[in-house]
Formats: sequence, C-alpha cells, structure tokens
Amino acid sequence: MKAIRFHELGSPDVLTLEEVERPRPGAGEALVKVHVAGVNFADTLLRRGGYAVQTKLPETPGLEAAGVVEEVGEGADARLAGRRVALIGQKCYAEYTVAPAASLMPLPDEVSFDEGAAFPIQSLTAYHLLFTMDQARPGMTVLVHAAAGGMGLQLIQMAKQAGAKVFGTTSTEAKAKLAREYGAEEVILYTQTDFAERVKELTGGRGVDLVLDSVGRTTFVGSLRSLAPFGHLVIYGAASGPPPKLDVIGTIFKKSQKVSAFWLFSTLQTPEVAARGVRQVMEWVATKKLKLPIGLKLPLAQAAEAHRKMEARETTGKILLTVG
Ligand SMILES: NC(=O)c1ccc[n+]([C@@H]2O[C@H](COP(=O)([O-])OP(=O)(O)OC[C@H]3O[C@@H](n4cnc5c(N)ncnc54)[C@H](OP(=O)(O)O)[C@@H]3O)[C@@H](O)[C@H]2O)c1
Repeated sequence: MKAIRFHELGSPDVLTLEEVERPRPGAGEALVKVHVAGVNFADTLLRRGGYAVQTKLPETPGLEAAGVVEEVGEGADARLAGRRVALIGQKCYAEYTVAPAASLMPLPDEVSFDEGAAFPIQSLTAYHLLFTMDQARPGMTVLVHAAAGGMGLQLIQMAKQAGAKVFGTTSTEAKAKLAREYGAEEVILYTQTDFAERVKELTGGRGVDLVLDSVGRTTFVGSLRSLAPFGHLVIYGAASGPPPKLDVIGTIFKKSQKVSAFWLFSTLQTPEVAARGVRQVMEWVATKKLKLPIGLKLPLAQAAEAHRKMEARETTGKILLTVG
C-alpha cells in the first residue's frame, strides 16, 4: 500500500510517498481502508521530533482518519466489517491503518468522510476544553488564540453555542474576518497589538473567565494578564514553543486564578469521559450544528505541502488529505 513516511526528523521535505507493507489487524483490532486523513499541528511536531511522544523512525504521521472497515482481528466485533467509521489512531497518512476496534466511531449516513476525518482530534479537543476542563456557560467570556485555525473555529462555535462571549486572536486581518464569521465578538491581531490590554478594554478592566492557549511561548504571559479574578487558563499546545515557567505566587495567587493543561489522549484513560465527547460531537456534526470548515484539501502525495502551509501559518480551518 501507499503511505507517507519519513526516515529522519526535519523539514516537510522529509515526507515522502512510499510503498510499504499493509498492516494486519491484531487481536481486538480493525483494519480500516482510509478515504480521508486529517492533518493536525501535532503531525508537524512528530515530524520535527517535538511531540509529546517520542518519534520512532521510520514513521508515518496521522492521528485521525475516516474510511471503511476492511477486516477485523480475532475477538473484535465482526459486524464492524464494511462499516463507515472515523478513528483516532496512528500512521493515518496511508491507504490502510489499524486501530482498536472498540475505539472506532461509526459514522451516521449524514456524516461524510471529510467530516469524519475532520472532527476526531480538533472537535473532541475543543469539546473537552470547554466542557470537561471548564463549564462553558451563558455570559462567560472566553479568549481563543489562533482563532481561525482548525482548533480555533471549533472552539468559537462551541463556546458561542453554550452562550459564551468569545474573543479571538490571529495573525492577519483575513483570518480575523473568518473568526468573526464563525461567531467571535472581536478578534485581535496579536502580532500587532498587546492583546491582554485590548482584552482588559473589552471586558471593562475585568479580564476573561477562560483563556484557551495553544500558542505557548509568545502568548503565555499575555494570557495570564488577560484573566479575570478566578479565571482559568488552559494550556493545550505550544505552536510558538513551550511557555516560560509559571511563578505561582507572583502571578495567579492574588486573584485566585487557575492554570491547567489538557491533552486529548488523556481522555483515553477515562472511557466514560471520552465517550461523552464522541456522543455530543457526533450529534452536532450529524445535525450540522457544528461546521467543519475545510481550509485545504490535498491528495495524500502532497502531505509535505500541507505541513509547509500549516507551519507557515497560511492555513485556516481543517486540513485534509484525500487517500482513497
Ligand atoms: N492538547 C491537545 O490534545 C491538542 C489537540 C489538538 C490540537 N492541539 C494544539 O492546538 C494548536 C492548534 O492545532 P491545529 O491543528 O488546530 O492547528 P492550527 O491552529 O490550524 O494551526 C496552528 C496556528 O497556530 C498559530 N501560530 C502561532 N504561532 C505560531 C508559530 N510560531 N508557528 C506556527 N503557527 C503558529 C497560527 O495561527 P495565527 O496565524 O492566527 O497565529 C497557526 O495557523 C496546536 O498547538 C496543537 O498542538 C492540542
């Protein structure tokens, strides 16, 4: 089968389309014929050797996909064969991938393969940031960094649906316009403006209840300055590099604020929490309450180009690779 592989860490140029052996489903696993694979910022970190888990070479990126179950391994539910599914897994930039059968997310007829490949990582992460890590609610104020990105547009829509007032940050006016179209009240160009100052102005000096920070090094201090008393900052990524060390007493103590961290894969340790997210997000996707804007769709062979554009901050919304 065809798959994208890299044999050394480095720039997007290390990604090449190769002929590799088709994986076989082990006990409890399913083999899925991939139709569409989702691209995530994490894939670029894996390729550079900066992801939360160590890269083992040679490696195939890809944490999510949608396709059809081709075959199930021993002990797995045989009724899954032929089902359209979405999955969170590994090595999804390929014609076939294997995943635990019990983790597959069957797709209702109304959900396309594009949607199935777009929601697993970003929409589920957005759901848990807003409803597991915090309780998004009417009247709450939320600041979303990189607001026009894959994560950003999901967070804006979900927070808005919960009745929150959402502010965003982005690097360009075109991205700001998009984030406003998806429901952000005001979008600040954080490459030009002191966003924490602007957030204070927008909230009458109070700050926001929740900051969702995936940018890290360049935003962390401003994110803390943007918090209201009892406010909550969730760190869930570091697109600009890791954030500096936190001085608890010097910063969050006096206003009783909270700083936490979130990684989607930690929900796998609490299956009931993970299942709650899948149920809710699948319903929103199926009923079109949650839009999954596709900013870029390329054939599998052009995975390197998808990474290049993402790292150059040229993309908005979801990036997909068409496989089958
Ligand atoms: N914790 C989790 O489980 C989890 C799950 C999914 C994603 N994430 C994290 O969430 C973030 C967004 O992921 P995504 O896949 O949706 O990507 P994305 O937001 O579509 O793309 C990354 C965005 O980050 C912004 N950015 C700021 N500084 C940057 C820099 N130095 N280099 C590159 N980009 C920079 C850019 O937006 P502007 O041009 O507007 O600045 C860029 O478009 C990433 O940090 C990712 O690791 C975490």
